[in-house]
Amino acid sequence: MCGIVGYIGHPEKTIDVLLKGLERLEYRGYDSAGIAYFKDGQINVLKKAGKLNCLEEIVDRNMLTEIGIGHTRWATHGEANEINAHPHKYGKIVAVHNGIIENMDELKKELEDKGKKFISDTDTEVFVAFLNDALEKYQDMKQAMEYTMKRVKGSYAIVCFHEDDLEHLYIMKKDSPLLIGVGKGEMYVASDYQAFREFTNQYVLLDDFEYGIIDKNAWHVYKDGKVVEKKIEVLDEQDSLSNKEGYDCYMHKEIYDIPNVLTNLFTFYEENDTHSVPDYRKYNKIQIVACGSAYHAGCIGKSLFAHFAQFPVEIEYASEYRYQPILADQNTLVIFVSQSGETADTIHCAKKIKEMQIDSLAIVNVYNSTLSRLTDYVYYMRAGEERAVATTKGYSSQVALFIIILREWMKARNTWTASLEQQYQEGKTKMLQAMEPCLKKFEHFSWIKKLIDKPANFFIGRQSDYALSMEASLKLKEVSYLNSSAYAAGELKHGTISLVEEKTPVFAIATDKNTYEKTKSNLMEVKARGAYVILTTLDTAEEEKEVDERMIVPDVGALFQPIITIIPFQLLSYQVAKALQLDIDHPRNLAKSVTVE
Ligand code: M6R
Repeated sequence: MCGIVGYIGHPEKTIDVLLKGLERLEYRGYDSAGIAYFKDGQINVLKKAGKLNCLEEIVDRNMLTEIGIGHTRWATHGEANEINAHPHKYGKIVAVHNGIIENMDELKKELEDKGKKFISDTDTEVFVAFLNDALEKYQDMKQAMEYTMKRVKGSYAIVCFHEDDLEHLYIMKKDSPLLIGVGKGEMYVASDYQAFREFTNQYVLLDDFEYGIIDKNAWHVYKDGKVVEKKIEVLDEQDSLSNKEGYDCYMHKEIYDIPNVLTNLFTFYEENDTHSVPDYRKYNKIQIVACGSAYHAGCIGKSLFAHFAQFPVEIEYASEYRYQPILADQNTLVIFVSQSGETADTIHCAKKIKEMQIDSLAIVNVYNSTLSRLTDYVYYMRAGEERAVATTKGYSSQVALFIIILREWMKARNTWTASLEQQYQEGKTKMLQAMEPCLKKFEHFSWIKKLIDKPANFFIGRQSDYALSMEASLKLKEVSYLNSSAYAAGELKHGTISLVEEKTPVFAIATDKNTYEKTKSNLMEVKARGAYVILTTLDTAEEEKEVDERMIVPDVGALFQPIITIIPFQLLSYQVAKALQLDIDHPRNLAKSVTVE
């Protein structure tokens, strides 16, 4: 979603830092971009709807200016046009903002009653106007920020500066990430350290309700009027910068990263028994809370716990969990799953669980992300930077971590037998060996055209194959914009089968040996109604003659099967989007990290 970058320091660097920072934040998804800087005795604001290259066309990269802020906006209040794009200037203050101001109407009315006028539809303009008004009253920026933060409700990461004060950047944070990048004779601010990591590896993380004043040599953070001592963090080497490495897009490259990511992940957790783990013996309930693909990975986790540990796991979308009574206690472990560690709904739930003093564990990729700091235990996904909006290696490493956690859980409870260990070792070796051939095998699908002009595509499966169907369907729709949905195979005949007509594509995933015959019956039902059936099954299963297409995956055993089975679907989605000439890494309307509710 929105991205923030700010800089104060060397005049010859400012514009370069802002534009490079915004480029690094592009992966998050946005629909307009802008910068503000000081030049010729005034604040200048340049902004454009559309992609960053539209903004870059109107910016002079050689311009000298000692202070500047930049923003990529994912529209919330008001359409994605130039007026609504950030930065917003009101009076003498110019600001960029991530988040949503919930009491915007009340604050706007208060300002309008004082005769203030607005030109955009945004909550950000109201925030800046309110801050500007407070500054006129207090004549002191620190007090103005304190007052504004008391009055504003909602989420915000704000970076601003003042026309008469070119020596300071001012920042405020609540429920939306904000970091200070520490340099020598220069300072950075950003919503994500990717924005300044090319320039410094030292940073300070702001916590909620903190605000700061930054000059080129020093930074000061406050809360409730008092100075807060903050620790300088150093970037972790596992968060290396990623590039396309010759692939046509990040999604393609990231699918090809999967074998290495998984090899390293399993080795890390097998060899590193010093990572902090909960006492798994004490829990009588697990709840998994996540969104999107992370939720689908959680569904695989639930299925693994049911089948191997005979332990019931509850799973909820974070956006639902946050509004329901929390049926958890001190013997519950709540597992949050999130690639970014910044998903607003998931973060909200983690805060609630922390307040209730219930044990929490995060499966998360981004080091030091908000989720990783809110939870008691963290299993890092170690997948490296994931830039494509559609997650691939992130999802695969989340599923892998559920296998790792299942093994640790069962070992702690003395239920992990020698035979399970053998299954684990053999399955893991088979799965890792099968990865590369599997990637090559599914690089091309001759029947892609048969999906493209259809009103709907369906994915069906049972148990973990149903979880895979949900992920396969989401992947296809998010990057190709084809209408697709997933159903538990047995549910189709309870209504949805009415949508199946001549040549409707139905993907049946049937890798679970226990339910294979049942799913087969369901695909026969749709075949009888004219569906174009694509069956995904194991290379050890009997050849199924009645289907139109087959996607045969290697049989690597029940524990690891979900990891290998998703690969052809990730590649299929990429291939369909490519055939349709879409922007694969930045699908329309989507954001990599969903930081609003
Ligand atoms: O960063 P998170 O894992 O918390 O993100 C959750 C979802 O927004 C994410 O998985 C989304 O569904 C992806 N775009 C799917 O590819």
